[in-house]
Amino acid sequence: MSLLQDKKILLGVSAGIAAYKSAMLVRAFIKQGAEVKVVMTPAAKDFVTPLTLSTLSKNPVQSTFYEKESENELWNNHVDLGLWADYFVIAPATANTLSKMAHGKSDNLLLATYTSAKCPVYFAPAMDLDMYIHPSTTNTFNTLKGFGNIMIPATSGELASGLVGQGRMAEPEDIVAFVEDDILQKLPLKGKKMVVTAGPTYEAIDPVRFIGNHSTGRMGINIATEAANLGAEVTLVLGPSTLTCTHSRVNVIKVVNAASMYKSVTEVYNDCDYAVASAAVADYRPKNRSDQKMKKKDGDLSIELERTTDILKWMGDHKKNQVLVGFALETENEIENAKGKLKRKNLDLIVLNSLNDKGAGFKAKTNKVTFINSNEEIKAFQLKTKTEVAKDILNEIQSLQNA
Ligand code: CTP
Repeated sequence: MSLLQDKKILLGVSAGIAAYKSAMLVRAFIKQGAEVKVVMTPAAKDFVTPLTLSTLSKNPVQSTFYEKESENELWNNHVDLGLWADYFVIAPATANTLSKMAHGKSDNLLLATYTSAKCPVYFAPAMDLDMYIHPSTTNTFNTLKGFGNIMIPATSGELASGLVGQGRMAEPEDIVAFVEDDILQKLPLKGKKMVVTAGPTYEAIDPVRFIGNHSTGRMGINIATEAANLGAEVTLVLGPSTLTCTHSRVNVIKVVNAASMYKSVTEVYNDCDYAVASAAVADYRPKNRSDQKMKKKDGDLSIELERTTDILKWMGDHKKNQVLVGFALETENEIENAKGKLKRKNLDLIVLNSLNDKGAGFKAKTNKVTFINSNEEIKAFQLKTKTEVAKDILNEIQSLQNA
């Protein structure tokens, strides 16, 4: 999963020889998880067929204001198209199309869409070297940048004319990387590091048995994913869970028990800006782990248990500038117990969920939480999906940091 996952990319193709690369560009965006629609200038169809681009994008390609051939003569709504897009990428952007964009001309669907789009617009010029450095082209670039559009500079190399110089459209994978990096630079948690613990721990009794719990890790995985979507670099220390996290900005460290979770956390905690402990860590483990499978015997069996390290308490004791968030799952005296943990573990925020609430806690895809911060301010939330709860937690972390 990348920052372009589920993003809607509108690709504008104008009539330059580099249009043949737009097929690769559609694929490169789709590979990052984006949905792609293509709008072309009528002349661009001489360079690359709409069939190629519609097949690759799995969406109809639009190039005219209405479908002449269609029985109903359907109108292609440029306003809808512009509003649909999260990002509009015009590549290749010819000198002619760019100049018209700079002057508000709307004599084809691509241009009309450009003037009605509200999303960020990227343009990747492609033209011959002398056109690229012509003062009118420089003016055009500056005008468009002044509108807030983002230029993906052309590169140097052999051009279609046979001349060598600047004017080649950036390569498709470089355009995708440019857009992704630009998105990242504007995200609020860019440059921040977060550690998240999630999932259960399994404390071995013997090679086949363990003491564990019903945690799925979903809440922590959602927190890690949302933080990564906001630009943070996340380390997810994940206990044995059938779920995982595939976000490109989340480094997953798989652990089994409280001791290995503790060890992994100590290796990454000092360096982080935020830490969220959502794991359901076992408080006790068998004192002696049998190397062989234990055979049953007549009568009862007692297993002696010893305390595990409280990882969150360790983080609280070693806190420097981190914003530290813990969870509390309570069944009685919820607020008082949660406040006690907040203080004992030196937290900035505790997220309380009560097993008394329907749809909250382990296994559910929803959660009902109450936030308590170190000033003992309380915020109670409605039942929400764990993704929405993760967003609320990240909002709270950002406001705590700015407070
Ligand atoms: N936690 C941890 N390491 C442990 C135990 C808990 O990091 N060994 C973290 C959890 O991830 C969670 C919070 O501490 O954020 C929960 O704390 P706590 O309530 O102490 O766990 P419980 O076992 O529920 O405690 P108690 O029996 O006191 O209710």
